[in-house]
Amino acid sequence: MRLATPHAFPTEVFVLDTPDPGLLPEGPWVLVGDAAVRGAWRASGMPEPEGALWLSISEPEKRLDTLIPWLEAWSRLPLHRDGVVVAVGGGVLTDLAGLASALYLRGVSWQAWPTTLLSMSDAGLGGKTGADLPTGKNLVGAFHPPKRLVACLAFLETLPQRQVDSGRWELVKTALLKTDLEWAKELLAVPSPRKVWIERALAYKAEVVHRDPTEQGERRLLNLGHTLGHALESASEYRLLHGEAVGVGVLAACLLAREQGFNAFPESFIEALAERLRPLAPLRPAWEQALPWMRRDKKATSLRMGSPSEIHCILPRPDGPPQQRLLPPEAWAEPFARCLHLITGETARA
Ligand SMILES: NC(=O)c1ccc[n+]([C@@H]2O[C@H](COP(=O)([O-])OP(=O)(O)OC[C@H]3O[C@@H](n4cnc5c(N)ncnc54)[C@H](O)[C@@H]3O)[C@@H](O)[C@H]2O)c1
Repeated sequence: MRLATPHAFPTEVFVLDTPDPGLLPEGPWVLVGDAAVRGAWRASGMPEPEGALWLSISEPEKRLDTLIPWLEAWSRLPLHRDGVVVAVGGGVLTDLAGLASALYLRGVSWQAWPTTLLSMSDAGLGGKTGADLPTGKNLVGAFHPPKRLVACLAFLETLPQRQVDSGRWELVKTALLKTDLEWAKELLAVPSPRKVWIERALAYKAEVVHRDPTEQGERRLLNLGHTLGHALESASEYRLLHGEAVGVGVLAACLLAREQGFNAFPESFIEALAERLRPLAPLRPAWEQALPWMRRDKKATSLRMGSPSEIHCILPRPDGPPQQRLLPPEAWAEPFARCLHLITGETARA
């Protein structure tokens, strides 16, 4: 099914049960894909162009040096300006392939064929492409939206349960942004992903990024859970998966919002969030490890060069859209400690 998107939205969005070769580019194209899905791609009758690149990739490989051999391979083929890059994989692969497409010949078209729950419902759409630096996540990148996104649920059949649960957190984030607590509860309770979840999340994201494609205002809301989440992900040396770190960030954001004077979420909901996060307790970094990463976050502002003083924080509410606040990174210390207490039962030192 082709999803309805705002008029003149740069990406055609499809959510399907199984991949459809008819949605691949009509002209010349190249493929860069995650080796984990090569079998499923072929088994569903999808073609591979000459020079297809399949590689094992996850967050530690989300670096600029990973994509340089792709650019070189495309130039050897050669891929010309009318060619299209088809990216098949999770958010790491689609973020990197999108960036490579932005760089190659100063920009060629690309299609995203996301294969994880997280990339189907979030990362594949919106035009943010990027790579990590040793100093922080997604610190380099470009806005370069795919011409087409094709999310096929069949790919989820091989996705490990931990990755499914990681993707769940970007959906919970979306439910809170939509002030839809019932959907958030369903997302926490229902084990297998439902197609309607992906459709709902993509439709919401398309609306927001269409109004604010380069994150000057409203799009910042999509960073709910990411302010603390990115820092935790990096400080854990990626032992916490992206979605998992966002999950801890979402719970901490609910607690911070309460501290900032907004209405509290029902206790039962906070407990349901904590319950889902409990298995991650052994992977959590300490606050002291996370703080320096927060100070270098993209969303931080600096009053003086080199001294980030405040950070854009997204505070969810049970009874209305989230609010944005500029707060010092240290404002997260106490909510993070309370969050750990809820997850582990231990009293953590802030
Ligand atoms: N651009 C954006 O707007 C945006 C939004 C949210 C997240 N992100 C980025 O997305 C990344 C996380 O993406 P992710 O959660 O998809 O992780 P990922 O890309 O690392 O994929 C997770 C793992 O699953 C494997 N895999 C992928 N598809 C599979 C399948 N169908 N079956 C079996 N294994 C499969 C991969 O090899 C990898 O090991 C982060 O780097 C994050 O920054 C980007």
